[in-house]
Amino acid sequence: MSVEALAPLASPGPVDRVPVLSMRGISKSFGKVQALDDIHLDIFAGEVVAIVGDNGAGKSTLVKILAGVHPADEGEIEFEGQAVQIPDPSTSRALGIATVFQDLALCDNLDVVANLFLGREIAGVALDEEEMEKDAWELLRQLSARIPSVRVPIAALSGGQRQTVAIARSLIGDPRVVILDEPTAALGVAQTAEVLNLIERLRERGHGVVLISHNMADVQAVADRIIVLRLGRNNGDFLASEVGYEDIIAAITGATEHARPLPDPPYRGPRRIGPVA
Ligand SMILES: Nc1ncnc2c1ncn2[C@@H]1O[C@H](COP(=O)(O)OP(=O)(O)OP(=O)(O)O)[C@@H](O)[C@H]1O
Ligand SMILES: [Mg+2]
Repeated sequence: MSVEALAPLASPGPVDRVPVLSMRGISKSFGKVQALDDIHLDIFAGEVVAIVGDNGAGKSTLVKILAGVHPADEGEIEFEGQAVQIPDPSTSRALGIATVFQDLALCDNLDVVANLFLGREIAGVALDEEEMEKDAWELLRQLSARIPSVRVPIAALSGGQRQTVAIARSLIGDPRVVILDEPTAALGVAQTAEVLNLIERLRERGHGVVLISHNMADVQAVADRIIVLRLGRNNGDFLASEVGYEDIIAAITGATEHARPLPDPPYRGPRRIGPVA
């Protein structure tokens, strides 16, 4: 098995740009299972980073550490250059990390506005329905979202529209990083295209986007960088524009081994691509 160094960068940008989020040497075990082993990861503002890997590679564990669901056993997390601890989900949100989990956690019987602002109200202060409705439309407009009405119950929306509402909700509070766990897994072709368009809007707005996906077509359509996890370890950090499908699959399956990124990798993004039709 050959051990390849990471390919040199075609057009490295300013090396002094600080990643919005960094993981350094993150490890996590569940009993005897080492879910993550010495993971390094940088996310810059205005780029989409796809994290791919086979079942059990550690993707969800990585997301949960950033979301404050699980503490890491070892390693450091930096947010905008500052070392941070993320002991719980509210700390993660307060830092500016929004996570959209696969189950979305929407309330089917409540309408779009109620779902967008659920849990955001300040105790004791009456909610201004008109203001919330206006804000809801503005948020959806900025995302070019195709939602027919903000007063329909979530149960009446398509899978793609639900995903859109869940992503829109995560943007309240203007997070720097948005993490999407398998956002297209349950969607058909047209709805997937809608969500990929939405991811483009997130990049344009300057969010750092982390996309967890099993769908290589989605990943190749929308990602600037592709990070491969294998058996809990880094096994590749590719520029999406320079890596082919076979190389990604080879890294996922372990046919090739790749050195993990150096502790302070040079800036690699963002790359601009056209809209996803
Ligand atoms: N709460 C837990 N308790 C025990 N083991 C866990 C727990 N969460 C994850 N693991 C184990 O850690 C490893 C990594 O799991 P993880 O869910 O992070 O993988 P994944 O890349 O998200 O996989 P998938 O693509 O199937 O979602 C697996 O071996 C899994 O069984
Ligand atoms: Mg998972």
